[in-house]
Amino acid sequence: MSDYVSIHGQWSSRLTFILAATGAAVGLGNVWKFPYLVGENGGGAFVLVYIASIALIGVPVMIAEVMIGRRGRQSPINTLRDLAVEAKSNCRWQFAGVLGIVAGLIITSYYSVIAGWTMAYAVRMVGGVFTGVTKDGAESIFAFLVEDPERMLAWHTLFILMTVAVISRGVRSGLEQAVKILMPALLLLLLALVVYAAVNGDFVQGLRFMFAIDFDALTTGGVLTAMGHAFFTLSLGAGAIMVYGSYLPSDVPIARTVVAIATFDTVIALLAGLAVFPLVFANGLTPGSGPGLIFLSLPIAFGHMPWGGLFGTLFFLLLLFAAWTSSIALLEPMVAWMVENRRVLRARAAGWVGFLAWLLGVVSILSFGPWSFEFDFAGEVRHNGVYDLLDILSSSIILPIGGLAVAVFAGWVLPKTMVEDELGGGAGLGFRLWYVAVRTIAPIALLLILLRAVGVI
Ligand code: TRP
Repeated sequence: MSDYVSIHGQWSSRLTFILAATGAAVGLGNVWKFPYLVGENGGGAFVLVYIASIALIGVPVMIAEVMIGRRGRQSPINTLRDLAVEAKSNCRWQFAGVLGIVAGLIITSYYSVIAGWTMAYAVRMVGGVFTGVTKDGAESIFAFLVEDPERMLAWHTLFILMTVAVISRGVRSGLEQAVKILMPALLLLLLALVVYAAVNGDFVQGLRFMFAIDFDALTTGGVLTAMGHAFFTLSLGAGAIMVYGSYLPSDVPIARTVVAIATFDTVIALLAGLAVFPLVFANGLTPGSGPGLIFLSLPIAFGHMPWGGLFGTLFFLLLLFAAWTSSIALLEPMVAWMVENRRVLRARAAGWVGFLAWLLGVVSILSFGPWSFEFDFAGEVRHNGVYDLLDILSSSIILPIGGLAVAVFAGWVLPKTMVEDELGGGAGLGFRLWYVAVRTIAPIALLLILLRAVGVI
């Protein structure tokens, strides 16, 4: 194992790495997207395929990313280049790192817009705006927000500033301090909301919906969606986990640590479902309403329940914390790269990267109102022009390509001895299983996800 330390610093312990990587993984994908995907794809069977995909695709690729990052000890671009050279392969592997950085920038730009909505909603919840609200009322509150570019711009700007503020302070005093506060807070908020849902909602129906397995409700498209989301939710393919791995102390065992992170991410997604569905059912709303589940249906539910304003506020705060720790991870690879290659101070690099994400976010904002257009993609109508295009390009196309590159690089390009050395315990069954998964199962699955995204399947 290498004794180098990254020039950006190092996590102070295994636990802080777990918190940071779980913070990267747990995001809008867990609290917003997962519940509505479960809703749209019929419940239990989808959840089962999702969990299987985490184990068979997500965990192996995550182990590969952390391993590569720690071996290279630099930003993804430089790490991939140097390791490729060391393995006597082609230095063009660094372009997988470039793609990841581009994906991170694009995802942050629209992520920040949605995070802005959560702040706006938290404020409205405190103000009691949703008390007794009707369906039409909830819809007009949402429309009022998304059709007002200036309002969204203000929230978007604030969220980017919050992200830049943390990244500027560096690994130890920025990232690590933020996750040490935000992750425990996130868990407490989530547990409080699940208890609230159990007491006030229709918990039994929520449980049944999430865990009763009905394979008839699941389509082939649903299976591929579950696989794609398992990959997205672990923040893979963008170099984020790789850069976090480059700050990992040499003595931490990688495989066990990754299993812990993937488990936390999955448990948090399931708990988010248990916080949301009982409220949805108790108020006679439908779980299959798509992206509007959190911003349209849930506020109606909170508006008709005891202490709804308080718990509604807590819910949107939870969503904000989840998004914040993820956006930090989305931009960190590019900031690390700028510090290494352009020799600028971290704070300045963070400022520039934040500015780029902000600028791109403005395009997303406009695409909800003035610039909106509709188009057909993979058999679905998308309504929000550029926002949807950016989402598809980054999360459905670039991330799977990045993940495929990581899996092939770890499984086929790096010498087995190097990989064994970094992971420790080459002779064990765990290692052999991982090696098979990263060489065959994960690449095939990612190829399928990619083919679906571009409409071939
Ligand atoms: N996993 C995040 C979520 O669930 C989203 C995400 C995808 C992400 N790729 C990432 C976050 C890379 C940080 C870095 O919402």
